[in-house]
Amino acid sequence: MKFRIKEFKPREVPDEFWEGYFEFIESNHREMNPDDPLPSREGIIQRQKADYPDYTVKRWLAYTPENKIIGWVGFGASKETASDHEENKHIAQINVRVLKNYRRKGLGTELLKTALKEAIALDRTTIETGTDHEAGAAFLKHYGAQLTIEGAENRLEMEDVDWDLMQSWIDEGAKRAPGVTIEEFDNICPEVIIDEYVEMFTEALNMQPLGETEGRANIDAEAWRKNEQRRGETGQKNYAMYTKEPDGRISGLTDIYFDPRDGDRIHQGLTGVRPKFRGKGLGKWLKAKMIFHIKENYPDVQRILTGNAETNEAMLSINKRMGFKRYKGEDGYKFKTEELAKKLGL
Ligand SMILES: CC(C)(COP(=O)(O)OP(=O)(O)OC[C@H]1O[C@@H](n2cnc3c(N)ncnc32)[C@H](O)[C@@H]1OP(=O)(O)O)[C@@H](O)C(=O)NCCC(=O)NCCS
Repeated sequence: MKFRIKEFKPREVPDEFWEGYFEFIESNHREMNPDDPLPSREGIIQRQKADYPDYTVKRWLAYTPENKIIGWVGFGASKETASDHEENKHIAQINVRVLKNYRRKGLGTELLKTALKEAIALDRTTIETGTDHEAGAAFLKHYGAQLTIEGAENRLEMEDVDWDLMQSWIDEGAKRAPGVTIEEFDNICPEVIIDEYVEMFTEALNMQPLGETEGRANIDAEAWRKNEQRRGETGQKNYAMYTKEPDGRISGLTDIYFDPRDGDRIHQGLTGVRPKFRGKGLGKWLKAKMIFHIKENYPDVQRILTGNAETNEAMLSINKRMGFKRYKGEDGYKFKTEELAKKLGL
C-alpha cells in the first residue's frame, strides 16, 4: 500500500484541510463509539490548535496518494518548564490510529516508528500508551509492550440514577461529618485555596491505583492556571466541589468537565478524599451532590462518563451503587524505548 507520512501542525494548515481531517476523526469515532453523537467540529479545531507551552506535542498524519487521511500518530513529552517534568522526564506518550480499512498493511508500524524517533531524540527511555480496542492490544503486544494497568470507561445514564439513594448519601454525609461543608467553584479555582487545592489534587492523582504506569502528576498553581486558560480558549467547562473541614482544611474533592457543544455528556473527573478523612462518607456525599448539580443545571445531559482502573475498588464501589456501567475497556501499556527501537530496526 502506498502512503506518505507528514507532520501535522494544526495552526498552520489552510481552512480547506479540516474537511478531510473530520472525515478521518468521524470514521474512527463511528467505529469506536457507534452509538454516540459525533463530537463538535468547532471543538475539535480549537483543541487541536491549543497551546501546550510546557510540553513537546507533535502529530503526524498518513495520506493515500489521493490525499485521503488514513492514519495518525500523536506524541507528547514534558519540557523542562513543566511542573511535572522531574517526575516524567524519562517518558514519552505515543498513540497510533489507523483507519479500519487500511490496517494490517504496516502503516501502524511506520507511524509508531515516526514518533519513536522523536522519543529517542528527546532521550525518553519509556514510551507510555494505551488502547480501548482489540486490534490496538494485539499490535502493542506484537511489539512487546507490557500491560501496565487495566481500566475501563464507565458510564452512568441519567435515567438510571436512583435519586432517593443519592439524597440519602447527602443526608448521611452531613450527619457523619459534622461541621464539614461542601464548597464549589466554576471554571476558576479561587486564589485563596489554589495552593492547597492543587496539592491535594496532585496527591489524589498519585494515590489512585496506577499499576505499572510510570507517569506521575505534579500540578502547581501556575500549571493549574495554564490549564484553566486552555480550557477557556477551547470552550471547555470545569466545575468543582470540595469538602471543607471545620478548621478550613480541604479534605475531599470532585470535579466535572464538559463541552457545551457536546451537550449529551459530562465527564466526571477526579474524586479524592485525603487518607485521614476517609471512611466518613465524604466521597459518596461529594458524588451525590455533584449528580444533583448536574441534574439541576444541565437538563440536556443524558450521561456521565468516567475512566477507572479495574483495581480501584473504593471508587468502583461508589460508582456501581450510583449505577455506572462498564462501557469499554481502556488499558495502559508501556515499552522500553531501547527494546522497541531494536524491534523496529532503529
Ligand atoms: C493499532 C493500530 C494502529 C495498528 O495499525 P496497523 O496499520 O494495522 O498496524 P500494522 O499493520 O503495522 O501491524 C503490525 C503488526 O501488529 C500485529 N497486529 C496488528 N493488528 C492486529 C490485529 N488486529 N490482530 C492481531 N495482530 C495484529 C500484527 O502482528 C501486525 O503484523 P502482521 O499484519 O504482519 O501480522 C490499529 O489497529 C488501530 O488504529 N487501532 C485502534 C487504535 C488503537 O487501539 N491504538 C493503540 C495503539 S497506541
